Amino acid sequence: YDWKHLKDNIDYFSEAFGSHTLFRYAAKAFICKALVKELHDKEWGVDVVSGGELKKCITAGANPEKIVFSGVGKTTEELELSLEMGIGQINVESKEELHALNKIAIKMNKKANIALRVNPDITANTHEKISTGKKQDKFGILWDDIIDAYHLADKLEGIKINGLAIHIGSQILELGPFEIAFNKISGLVKELRNQKLSVDTIDLGGGLGIDYENNSQNAKLAVDYGKLIEKTVYPLGCKILLEPGRFIAANSGILITKIIYDKKADKRNFLIVDAAMNDLLRPALYNAYHSIVPVEENTDQLNKICYDIVGPICETGDIFAKNLSLPTLKSNDLLALRSVGAYGSVMSSQYNGRQLIPEVLVNDKEFSLIRSRPPVEDLWHYESIPTWIK
Ligand code: LLP
Repeated sequence: YDWKHLKDNIDYFSEAFGSHTLFRYAAKAFICKALVKELHDKEWGVDVVSGGELKKCITAGANPEKIVFSGVGKTTEELELSLEMGIGQINVESKEELHALNKIAIKMNKKANIALRVNPDITANTHEKISTGKKQDKFGILWDDIIDAYHLADKLEGIKINGLAIHIGSQILELGPFEIAFNKISGLVKELRNQKLSVDTIDLGGGLGIDYENNSQNAKLAVDYGKLIEKTVYPLGCKILLEPGRFIAANSGILITKIIYDKKADKRNFLIVDAAMNDLLRPALYNAYHSIVPVEENTDQLNKICYDIVGPICETGDIFAKNLSLPTLKSNDLLALRSVGAYGSVMSSQYNGRQLIPEVLVNDKEFSLIRSRPPVEDLWHYESIPTWIK
């Protein structure tokens, strides 16, 4: 991970928005202790989606008041933990969750600060597995039910309702769907206010995409996104929350892998590398594109070969790229997979008994291991043989 990129991305995202805006970085994209500290110093909070993320961020020094807890399935334990820690906002996604939280809060003699996440029924032009704002998706409270739910939240003794939240999907590169969503939510705020309900906060979620071809963000996109918010939502005078993840972390990380074999079979040239879908799931799961470049520049650009870059896992889908034209490569050469900073390491697993890989933070000429390779014993350490097996 490139520390300068991470820091610059935070700064340059902040600069695209006005002073009503507060930032809650989506920890699910990538989080490490150093980043929590940096976010804290820049007055950013975090958006978490599990008790694990919550504990990790608080342990690393995040301010509980600047934490938003999102997610459709928060457990009793997670809701209790949120209230115990006094986090700033719980984004409630159903009437069922609202009642559960109310009961817990009353029992703990507390009031839960919440926003209601509304499902605006909007199609965002992105991969179907990361589109979240259509009414058939599991997320949020249906548009037709939201006003009733808001009235209900306003009456419940253990609840303090602050406003609304939306998140329509991820890796969105056009502003059209955001514009529809922001206009819809503005209309909703006005209607709620007409009904004598107060709305102080609007959480607009994350979702801004990056350019995977060029390993960069479109600077203009963030600025235009800022202008869109200014036009559609600022006039309501609410506090605005944004939860960017990918835009901050994606192009800050690369995955370095070594070629094990250069295998020729049936007219195909496979480069079998030592990274696999357990380390970076996005290509296998979403057919996602990540650009791949040799670590050492080869000056012989004339003799290019068409390679399939694949991992060692026993799945045909363990492919990083097909028909990629690269200068001739051989075993032990290194490749870099780019733009893996967001939804890379966080989605990794130990599938095929593979150890998680170490993570390094680079700052110009200095670098540090920020997560060491967990020992191989981790693969069986927490297991036991039942005593009834003789
Ligand atoms: N807020 C909420 C409520 C979310 O669900 C998400 C992402 C974000 C914020 C941050 O969105 P971003 O700014 O990163 O687009 N694993 C997928 C992405 C899943 C996104 C889930 N939610 C991928 O690798 O593309």
